[in-house]
Amino acid sequence: DWTSENFVAEQIAAIRAQVGDRQVLCGLSGGVDSAVAAALVQRAIGDQLTCVFVDHGLLRAGEAEQVEKDFVAATGVRLVVADEKDRFLEALAGVSDPETKRKIVGREFIRSFEAAARAIAGERGIDFLVQGTLYPDVVESGGGDGAANIKSHHNVGGLPDDLQFTLIEPLRTLFKDEVRAAGVELGLPEEMVWRQPFPGPGLAIRIIGEVTWERLELLRAADAIARHELTAAGLDRAVWQMPVVLLADVRSVGVQGDGRTYGHPIVLRPVSSEDAMTADWSRLPYEVIEKISTRITNEVRQINRVVVDVTSKPPGTIEWE
Ligand code: XMP
Repeated sequence: DWTSENFVAEQIAAIRAQVGDRQVLCGLSGGVDSAVAAALVQRAIGDQLTCVFVDHGLLRAGEAEQVEKDFVAATGVRLVVADEKDRFLEALAGVSDPETKRKIVGREFIRSFEAAARAIAGERGIDFLVQGTLYPDVVESGGGDGAANIKSHHNVGGLPDDLQFTLIEPLRTLFKDEVRAAGVELGLPEEMVWRQPFPGPGLAIRIIGEVTWERLELLRAADAIARHELTAAGLDRAVWQMPVVLLADVRSVGVQGDGRTYGHPIVLRPVSSEDAMTADWSRLPYEVIEKISTRITNEVRQINRVVVDVTSKPPGTIEWE
């Protein structure tokens, strides 16, 4: 039977055997999966691991700082932060198609890791790259038995063909609840283990339309309010995750004060789920929705409407792209 203790022990042995005395790089995203993968690899090979946090500019408010503080404090891992905002925004300029966005983000992540590897190890190079890929990511990217490609998860279907790293994916057979159990086993703090999922391509796939810095700032402001109110209402665990989506190409007419507005809608997408393979829309208390709606429309200029997505998965997916 599966236990987190056995899993951790087996993976440590497997990673040691695979890596030997070579160097390993791990990209941290701020999420549970990469944190657990990194902690596991660090337990196995210690100083041979360097973690890289790529700031691609598609993060939520406060996220980069959180990784720098919390993860390093919990694990003592060696962490390099790479500011790659320009690289990603340039690559994404003019792109609206969801799969193209995902492919671009996947490719630029790898280019960023390659640049980090050169900076860290020079000519000697780094052979391995750790990815926090889970079983549902494998299945939904078409890697499972006969599964259709629903979305190219950036750490599975979106990798370039000329990848210079050998991948280490210790969580490839796990579901989220098992990853959380492994995280607890590895001594990661509760807040980190119970963090709600956030996709690798970040806010790029939560802006419906082209990704620009201005739109990112708009979405970050709305998302920060929604997350704050969800936490304040004590709903972080009851809700699996709540994507906040900017319909950047849609405008509607509103009225504020005595003036007409012509702004963008924000979608709240709260869902409950066991493993993200299926999901139901969360019945958030009306007071919480009201608070979020009032604050966003008051505080975020250019947002004049808040709507709630009441679609289960299937037929909807959790993210909008
Ligand atoms: P969907 O939208 O496919 O999402 O129902 C299922 C779960 O996966 C997350 N997600 C991703 N996670 N890289 C990730 O690491 C990705 O490219 C990615 N795309 C979606 C999503 O937030 C949800 O938890």
